[in-house]
This record gives sequence, C-alpha cells and structure tokens, in this order.
Amino acid sequence: MISSRFAPSFEPSPWSAHVDARLLAAHAAGGAPVIDLTVSNVTAPEHKLFSESLEESLEMADSDSIYQPHPRGAQRVRALVADHLAQALGPRPNPNDLWLTASTSEAYVWLFALLADCGDEILVPEPSYPLFASFAAITGVRLQTYALVYDDAWMIDLQSLVNSLSDRTRAIVVVSPNNPTGSRLRRWELDAITALCAQRAIALIADEVFAEYLLDPAPDAVDTVVGERRCLTFALGGLSKSAGFPQAKLGWIAMSGPDNEVAAASRALDHIADSLLSVSGAVQRQAPWLMQEGRKRQALIDRRIRDNLTTLRSLCDSHPAAVSQPLRCEGGWAAVLRVPAICDDEQWARWILDESSVLVQPGHLYDFSAPGHLVLSLLTEPQRWAEGVRKMLGVIAQHIRQDASRT
Ligand SMILES: Cc1ncc(COP(=O)(O)O)c(C=O)c1O
Repeated sequence: MISSRFAPSFEPSPWSAHVDARLLAAHAAGGAPVIDLTVSNVTAPEHKLFSESLEESLEMADSDSIYQPHPRGAQRVRALVADHLAQALGPRPNPNDLWLTASTSEAYVWLFALLADCGDEILVPEPSYPLFASFAAITGVRLQTYALVYDDAWMIDLQSLVNSLSDRTRAIVVVSPNNPTGSRLRRWELDAITALCAQRAIALIADEVFAEYLLDPAPDAVDTVVGERRCLTFALGGLSKSAGFPQAKLGWIAMSGPDNEVAAASRALDHIADSLLSVSGAVQRQAPWLMQEGRKRQALIDRRIRDNLTTLRSLCDSHPAAVSQPLRCEGGWAAVLRVPAICDDEQWARWILDESSVLVQPGHLYDFSAPGHLVLSLLTEPQRWAEGVRKMLGVIAQHIRQDASRT
C-alpha cells in the first residue's frame, strides 16, 4: 500500500529510542533537567534569543483580498529577496530568475523532481545535512555521496566526487557553509565542479542557507554562486536561517547558467511551482517586515554562535585533560568536536547523556566517515552552553582515563 521508498525510514534508530527513554526517565524522576546541546530550532524558547514572535505581528490575509498567485511568487517579494541577496552576498539576481518556495527543503524536492528521473543520481556531500535521503525518497532519486575530508580545514575530496559520477548523475549538491562541518566552498572547488557540470550537462545545486553566518576565516571561499553562468546553477536560501524565521515558510531558488539551459529549466520549474503555489499570500504580504526584523534576528544569532564558539574553544583549551577540540568552523550553527575514537560516536553520546544529563549528537547522524565526532548546536543559551560543555568534557576526560588505565 505504501511505496517501498519509505518503508525503512520509519523505524526509530537505537540512538533516538535511547534519547527518548532517557528524557522520559529524567522527566519522571523530576530531578535536574537534561541540558540539550542539540537544539537547532532558532525559535526554541530555551535559547532565549528573540523577544518578538512572528505570530504577534503577522496579519492574516484581508478577507476581501483578491488571490492572484504567480508561480514564481509575487514580483515585489522577489525584488525584496534580490535586494537581500545583493546586500548580504554581493550579486543582485534579476527577480525574474527567482522562485519563491515554502522552504529550502521544498526547493530541494522541486529541483530533484525537475532534474532527475526515477533512478537517476544526485551527488551529495558526506558528512552533511541528513535530510537528503528523505528528499531522494520522495522524488525516487538515488543519492551518491562524495567525501569532505579534514586536514586543518574541511575540503571537498574532488577525486571521490569524480569517482561518484556516472551516466545517471543529474546534479551535484554543495552546501556552503555545510551543516554540520561549517566548511565553505573554495573558489578552486567551484571551478572544478562547474567544469565537470558543464562537460557532462549536469546541474549544480548550492545550499547557501547559512551563507550569512561566517565564523573562522576561509581564504578564497566563495560567498555565493548566485549569477554563476558556467553551468545550470541553483542557489538556495530562505528566511528560516538567514532571518531566524523558520515558521514564516519562505525560501527561494535563484537560477542562472547558459541561456538555453536556463530557458528550458525555467519552463519546467514554472510548471512545478504553478502546480503547487505553496507560498502563502499572508507571508508574502509580511515579507518587508520579515526581512527587516530578520536583520535584527540575524545579528542576535551571529553574536550567539560567535560567543558560544569562543566559550567552547576556551573551555576545551583550559580543560586539564585537554580531551577534545572543536574542529575549524567557518560558518553555520553547529560545532563539531573531535573526541578520541576509543569507542563509536554513539557510545560517547550515550555516556555523556547517561552520566551528565547533557545531550549531544553522535557524528554518525551526519554520516561522518570515521568515529570520533560529536555535534553541538551553537544556538544554545550561553549559561546552559557553558555548563553543558563543562559537564560533557568531564565525562569525556573520565572515560579517557579509564581507557588509559585499562591499556
Ligand atoms: C544545510 C541545510 N539546508 C537546508 C535546511 C532546511 O532549511 P529550511 O528550513 O529552509 O527548509 C537545513 C536545516 O537545518 C540545513 O541545515
């Protein structure tokens, strides 16, 4: 009755079952609450980031307003998005090359459907955003991965990308800054990828949802692929991250590339967008306010992630056992902590949760190729962050000592 594409993904993983049981037990015991260092929802009340909520300001559609949807979204909203991109990232796209979507996630689904037949392949980075598998399942596309490797900084393993190409490859996805590695696309990586795409008539999809959140320096990094003309290119963004408004449900696709490819892709993308018309009139009317308020939210988030990264570094540096270090983080909302691979990541996360009531994510949720990675949300409220990190480091130090005394 249900497509076989979905069956496996409904089973809770052992890790999420363990977390649920632990949270329930902590709640039932009524003791100290778990310090959750994984919450990436910027509006979560425990982050204490924003005072004003969207709901307070959102006026719903006038009951007598006339519904005149455009498949790409209202022209004036696309013009606002173009201004926003110009201000934040440099190039101003023509508003006619923008499609509004309900979210970046939706944009992925539209683009996978636009570019690939069932069974065709799309290349995605690893480690990266875990939802690619869902977008692929929804659209019947097969994912192939290429590796990001770490050597003082994360970079694309271009050989692994070339090895993953096949006759059925239809698109290459890059995420910059990537979630959770925080790595940014380098100019030479973009040159190599656009050359491959142009040669093989495949498209580039660049997820730039975190493009405004920059942390460690990244020499020669690409700010945006908006306006890239060497191959058919789609740059994705949205208010969920750039304005701290995930509930607004407003994202966008900026298309560019060789004229003939853009013309063909535009017709097909209009068809998809026109079939769904998924961006509400109410949100489009509120777009000027959302953009304006979003700049304030962005500044608050920016301050939070910077401060928390600094705290994390100094707590790791000053910890007597010097047990672990955050990896270089060029942007985004996550920090990756390197821990000794004396066990797998899930075991580390279990020890930390069970022994200190601090919740962190094991790296395997993001498909790190090797053990020894924990992922933390930099959005966490600063006092909880410092307390949670200290406790976590204490557990890590203790297990390293135990391991050393055994060997
Ligand atoms: C890299 C990346 N892309 C896209 C998204 C989804 O964004 P949206 O809320 O616009 O669907 C996320 C969400 O965390 C993300 O981490």
